[in-house]
Order: sequence, then C-alpha cells, then structure tokens
Amino acid sequence: MSPRLLVTGAHGMLGRDVVRIARADGHDVVALARAELDVTDAAAVSAAISAAAPDAVVNCAAWTNVDGAESDPDGAAAVNATAAGNVARAAAAAGARLVHVSTDYVFDGARAADAAPYVESDPTNPQSVYGRTKLAGEQAVAAAGGSHAIVRSSWLFGVGGPNFAATMLRLAAERDEISVVTDQIGCPTATADLARALLTLAFGAGDGDGAADGSAGAGAGVRAAQGVFHVAGSGPPVSWNAFAAEIFRQAGAACRVLPCTTAEMPRPAPRPAFSALASARPETPVLPPWQDGLSDFLEARKVHA
Ligand SMILES: NC(=O)c1ccc[n+]([C@@H]2O[C@H](COP(=O)([O-])OP(=O)(O)OC[C@H]3O[C@@H](n4cnc5c(N)ncnc54)[C@H](OP(=O)(O)O)[C@@H]3O)[C@@H](O)[C@H]2O)c1
Repeated sequence: MSPRLLVTGAHGMLGRDVVRIARADGHDVVALARAELDVTDAAAVSAAISAAAPDAVVNCAAWTNVDGAESDPDGAAAVNATAAGNVARAAAAAGARLVHVSTDYVFDGARAADAAPYVESDPTNPQSVYGRTKLAGEQAVAAAGGSHAIVRSSWLFGVGGPNFAATMLRLAAERDEISVVTDQIGCPTATADLARALLTLAFGAGDGDGAADGSAGAGAGVRAAQGVFHVAGSGPPVSWNAFAAEIFRQAGAACRVLPCTTAEMPRPAPRPAFSALASARPETPVLPPWQDGLSDFLEARKVHA
C-alpha cells in the first residue's frame, strides 16, 4: 500500500508542489487547503489527522505576510506558532511523522555578506514578528514530542503563488530598469526542489531506502532523524539584486537591474541582511543549485501560462 501523506495549507505555493510531486511519486495524498482545514482550530486538526490516519504530515500552512505580521502579531502567532503545535500534537497522537516548514527569518542576519552560512546549531534571534512566530512554531513542534523534522528554507519561488521571481518577470514586462537591493544575501529555493526534500524527510530516500539485507540504510536514517534541518537551494548565496539579474538573464528579459540599499526601500518588517543557510547534518537532503531550480521554474511557467 502507498504511504499516506496529509498536507495542510495545500493551496499555498509550496503546498501545491508538495501535493503534485507526492501524487506523481505514487503517494496517497490527503490535500487540505485552508477552506477544508483551518489549522488554528485544534479540534478540527485533531479530527482531520485522526480520520486520515496518515503516515506523515507536511505542514505548509502559515501566515506568510511578513510585513502584515507587524501590525497583527496575534494573527500571525495563531497560525505560525499555536497552530503549528495543534498540527504537531495531532500528528504525534496519530503516530504520523511531521515535516514542518520554517524560515531563515529566525536568524538576525547580522553576519558579514561573505560570512559562512547559518547551520542548524547557530543561535536564533528573529528580528520580525514573522520570524518570532515561526521560531515559536518550531518550539511548539519540538515540544509535542512526536517524530518530526523542522525544515528551515529561504527565498522560495514556485509556480503556485506570488514570489520575487514572478514579480520581477511582471515588472520586466512593464519597465526598462528596476532597482533591487544589493545588501540582503540569501539562498533562493525552488519550491519543487524543496518539496522533494520534504518528501524524503517524511518517508526516506525512495529506492535507496534501507539496505538490501533489510537493515536500516540511509533512507531510513532520514526518516527517523529528528529536529531542525536547513534545506535551501545550493550554489553560492546571492543578493536579491544578483538574483533578479539571473532571472532576467535566463528569461531573456531586457530589463536593467540597478543597485539600491535596504535603507532606500523601507518596509514595516526588518529583513535579515544575511540569511544564507547550509546544513551541518549528514542526513539533510541536498537541493540542486538554485539556478537550475530557476530554469525549471521558467519552463514550468510556460506550461502554466
Ligand atoms: N515564501 C518564502 O519565501 C518562504 C521562505 C522561507 C520559508 N517559508 C515557509 O514556507 C512555508 C510555505 O510558504 P509559501 O511560500 O507556500 O506560502 P503561501 O503560499 O502563503 O502558503 C501558505 C498557505 O497557508 C495557508 N494558511 C494560512 N492560514 C491558514 C490557516 N489558519 N489554516 C490553514 N491554512 C492556512 C494559506 O492560505 P490563504 O492563502 O488562504 O491564506 C496558504 O495557502 C511557510 O511555512 C513559510 O513560512 C516561505
């Protein structure tokens, strides 16, 4: 029988790719969008997870409006912190492994632009309401006591929702030049690549899962590994400015990318200046270079156009 996966926030940008790829892999997928399961409703979460009896849950539901969180911290905390605990307790009670998605914004980003990326053991120090609520969500997941992987990722782009790459392509069709910040550095990540890694952390490493003699192999190790994992596009970290330039290069867009600073583009929520992620854990799935993810994204947009 195919392993069963329950996905919350299934109509979000990441959730759509998790559902699509899990189904393509032959998993039995229960995809619950916000209209079908509001994760802030603890009783509904418990009932849905208990009824579905999944082998694993991927929690893609989140408050992702980073600036909006500053003016509604309770609203952001309800989804990112309290509801993450609801999902984690329900998954633990059902004996399902939970893969929970978190963010680079749990770090303060105070490192130099050429510093080493943050690894899982580095101290967190979120500077925004969004980052604080996501960190509280990580803590709630760990406290629930079930089998879990907390996956911090960064700078997501995919065909299933608004994102920086899509915005740049829209603006390139309207303008000859655009100013993009050079002083925020991170790791762009394709949601399709991240989705595959989440499934590996949920179920193990597919064909290589377990040794031929039936003993636990690398795949089983991934499936049993607990705690925080950093999973982001590989390749050198970049600024948003350099990311925009690569988007336009690959898309063949003629728009010029001008430099500017974060101070020139004030936003309600502070962003970490440096939030590149790397993993110090051998079990962590390694993603392809973000440039390859970008190329796949541009191809997939043609199909969805
Ligand atoms: N986007 C990024 O650059 C980025 C970077 C690092 C980490 N992450 C993390 O990656 C995960 C997925 O993000 P994403 O980019 O796919 O965001 P997204 O497109 O905004 O998806 C989040 C989904 O959660 C749903 N949701 C919100 N409140 C809910 C509730 N109370 N109950 C059930 N569902 C609810 C949203 O539904 P509605 O649209 O109806 O509100 C949306 O479909 C999140 O944990 C996020 O923190 C994102």
